[in-house]
Amino acid sequence: MSESLATVAYIGAAILFILSLGGLSNPETSRRGNFYGIVGMTIAVLATVLGPRVTAAGVPWIIGALAVGGGIGLYAARKVQMTQMPELVALMHSLVGLAACLVGFASYVDTSIQFEGAEKAIHEVEIYIGILIGAVTFSGSIIAFGKLSGKIGGKPLLLPGRHWLNLLALLVVIWFGYLFLQAHDPAAGMTPLIVMTVIALLFGIHMVMAIGGADMPVVVSMLNSYSGWAAAATGFMLANDLLIVTGALVGSSGAILSYIMCRAMNRNFISVIAGGFGTGGGAAPAAAGGAQPAGEVVAVSAAETADMLRSAKNVIIIPGYGMAVAQAQHTVYEITKMLREKGVNVRFGIHPVAGRMPGHMNVLLAEAKVPYDIVLEMDEINDDFSDTDVSIVIGANDIVNPAAEDDPTSPIAGMPVLQVWKSKTSIVMKRSMASGYAGVDNPLFFKENNRMLFGDAKKMLDEVLGALKA
Ligand code: TAP
Repeated sequence: MSESLATVAYIGAAILFILSLGGLSNPETSRRGNFYGIVGMTIAVLATVLGPRVTAAGVPWIIGALAVGGGIGLYAARKVQMTQMPELVALMHSLVGLAACLVGFASYVDTSIQFEGAEKAIHEVEIYIGILIGAVTFSGSIIAFGKLSGKIGGKPLLLPGRHWLNLLALLVVIWFGYLFLQAHDPAAGMTPLIVMTVIALLFGIHMVMAIGGADMPVVVSMLNSYSGWAAAATGFMLANDLLIVTGALVGSSGAILSYIMCRAMNRNFISVIAGGFGTGGGAAPAAAGGAQPAGEVVAVSAAETADMLRSAKNVIIIPGYGMAVAQAQHTVYEITKMLREKGVNVRFGIHPVAGRMPGHMNVLLAEAKVPYDIVLEMDEINDDFSDTDVSIVIGANDIVNPAAEDDPTSPIAGMPVLQVWKSKTSIVMKRSMASGYAGVDNPLFFKENNRMLFGDAKKMLDEVLGALKA
């Protein structure tokens, strides 16, 4: 394939990636978005493999790598549970970071292309920054994977004077960057490069270790952004325009997603970017603050729940992590259909961080074929709770916790939540009085107009459906 044809293919692939991102922004168009992404990536890989920069001797290596990588990807996609997605994503980000580091070292020692003067300096800056971002992304993502999968404790690790440590690390990295650019040959430049890589790896570990478990969702999307910038840096090192464009798309969309999630959790974007997020405000440690809720908890049966739903005019369903665990989405939709047939106005309220990954609830509801027009975002539905007869909370906890609004000492104070307690009756379905992901008690359970339906969400919803049918 000629250089110009490869360039045209790259432009086509870049356009398809942009269309893909556009499609993925809405559940209705997400299938199409995925399809554009697949076609774009196929074109990109073919144009690279068949392009002018790959020699015939390299093709078997590429095919071998594709078979191994594709095989592992297929296996993981089939095996990994929906609730383990954030861990898988974190692990994949680590691979992007590792690739950026390896490409950086390889292109530094590669003597087949000789750069001179300003070009040499620019190429070396690209290598230095590429390895820096790659190493931070790699080690940070490994720690994020450990925390999300429970292999590393969720408690933030707060070293004394950690901000000073980070500043010192930055200064050392700048100094070694200067030494690296002064080096006349790869042998001399290797020491500063390795020292910087070790510091960057330690910084990545330190940054994510300092972040509390409750704040991990933002970290995953932040590392997503970092992995995009690492890919863009790799693109600069390899002089590959498509990799630069794709990396920048991933980097900026990850940054936008982090911003949206920060807003949803009432966190400061700048402090997330700087790392050490969720430490000072006491966001993460379970039961670190906040008043203990008190009062009476009123339990109801599935039959009583069915009665309340049957006599309601307006119902809002709030799904959470427990619905995903119980795989109750299909029964939820069966109930929704039945109620709608009886003239009840049923809608869904989706919190931006419900479940364990962005869009988690939307994916499950779409899988169960719930119509998109009755699935509303938190901001669209929060004012409607006061006109709602029954709000039914299915395996959600933190996202409906009134302490976020009422108790300034609560670890989740300031996080916007779905105000289910404003409806005439709220029913919370969960197995026990246990806290949710953030480890915070929930005063909603003790409110006068709240009822608890204890049990596994799927089992209890099946019983509610049975009672509705009867
Ligand atoms: P959580 O606050 O984690 O609450 C889920 C509740 O579901 C638990 O209290 C649990 O109570 C219940 N549950 C578990 N299994 C169940 C089952 N089989 N049947 C019925 N109930 C079950 O979830 P949420 O309200 O969706 O909030 C999400 C939390 O996760 C937030 O703190 C958010 O920051 C965090 N987070 C979000 C993401 C993203 S991006 N969405 C990623 C990581 C973390 P029982 O044990 O009593 O049943």
